[in-house]
Amino acid sequence: MNRLVVVSNRVAPVRRGGTGAEGGLAVAMQGAMKDRGGVWFGWSGNTVAHDSSQAKVIETGRISYATLDLTQRDYNEYYTGFANSVLWPLFHYRLDLTDFSRRDMAGYHRVNAMFASRLLPLLKDGDVIWVHDYHFIPLGAYLRQAGSRQKLGFFLHIPWPPMELLATLPNHEALVRDLCTYDLIGFQTRTDLHAFEAYIREEAGGEVLSGGRIKAFGRSTLAKAFPISIDTEEVAKLARRAEHSPQSRRLRESLSDRQLITGVDRLDYTKGLTERLEAYQHLLAGYPAYRGQVTLLQIAPPSRGDLSDYQQMRQQVEAIAGHINGRFAEFDWSPVRYLNRGFKRQTLMGFLRLSDVGLVTPLRDGMNLVAKEFVAAQPPEDPGVLVLSRFAGAARELDGALIVNPYDIEGVGDTLARALSMALPERRERWEAMFERLSRHDLAAWRNAFMTNLDAAPCAAAAA
Ligand code: G6P
Repeated sequence: MNRLVVVSNRVAPVRRGGTGAEGGLAVAMQGAMKDRGGVWFGWSGNTVAHDSSQAKVIETGRISYATLDLTQRDYNEYYTGFANSVLWPLFHYRLDLTDFSRRDMAGYHRVNAMFASRLLPLLKDGDVIWVHDYHFIPLGAYLRQAGSRQKLGFFLHIPWPPMELLATLPNHEALVRDLCTYDLIGFQTRTDLHAFEAYIREEAGGEVLSGGRIKAFGRSTLAKAFPISIDTEEVAKLARRAEHSPQSRRLRESLSDRQLITGVDRLDYTKGLTERLEAYQHLLAGYPAYRGQVTLLQIAPPSRGDLSDYQQMRQQVEAIAGHINGRFAEFDWSPVRYLNRGFKRQTLMGFLRLSDVGLVTPLRDGMNLVAKEFVAAQPPEDPGVLVLSRFAGAARELDGALIVNPYDIEGVGDTLARALSMALPERRERWEAMFERLSRHDLAAWRNAFMTNLDAAPCAAAAA
């Protein structure tokens, strides 16, 4: 079988033999590379004074990890600049937060070209290349320009924006043209796929044919939806194992029979954290019986903290969490436990298992795997209730959740009351349908669907 070359901005930490501490995606990619042999290529996470002339390669078994450092200028223009101050907000429908500059766009292209040139010497004929996420949209085009003839696939982990939003990006056409260089383009949901197809038809003057075939910019490619998932069995196992861990025991004891609502999110403005806290405040204000009877555990590890939008949002979240505690806390009860830190996967799955309600209310999210993890982590005999934003990709699959509009603060507060009081038969019925679906559509199924389509896709370079 052909080798798999994975390209992503963040590369999973190298752990010989694996420790089980890696995230789900890392395990899925490593699994595929272990079978076929492969290279994982991306940013080292370090910034240095000078460009690295070649990638640093570490080999473990059949997988090589190849990473490049970034200069401070590259980091500023490519990572915090164009990727996270333009593409990230725009693709999450936050046009108001975009901060476009030609300098950053040039930096984004410079880094993509540099990554392509450093990847090229590591490639072998017949390799299949799978590029991940918005950091590397033009990478495929730079690889082709440099002479790569390997099969190229791309998967976007975040939403694809509606045409009129994308059109605000000064280089939108060039970006989509570059995207169409890939032989297979994967999106999270049909909403994203349809927005892309609308752009192809109406803005690029291209054609959308049957079976996901796209003709545009004098090229032909395939575009399909591949909703990403979790390793359902593994999450269920981790959660079961964590149930009796010291951390789970401490959490349970600290609650002293109060109900638990849990949120787990990177501290990001897309996650709707201020709205979520306001909805919880509505619950406490509008349903006094819950005062002293419920705790919200919000785990929110900081992210991209050098960007001012993230700093501001963090202050807002802190202010409202503090306000709710000031307003409602008793000397022996705090309504909100707000934590700016991450936990080991197993510990987290144990916390999700203990939760009566999983509160996942992003304003916009490509998929949201916490929603899926919450379902997989539940005890089948007494499962909790998932309250899920309709604007998370996961809402399309998890229809046993209580689906909410996160902008409707009072509506989310009322739904929390409904979730906290839901009787066991309804909880079980809702959970069983979701768990059954996640057991079939797990991470391996997602990876295999993408890889099967990529292996079968015609390679534009081979036809040329
Ligand atoms: C999202 C993106 C990923 C990114 C992650 C963490 O999930 O889709 O590509 O790696 O956020 O963000 P960071 O900027 O810390 O890599």
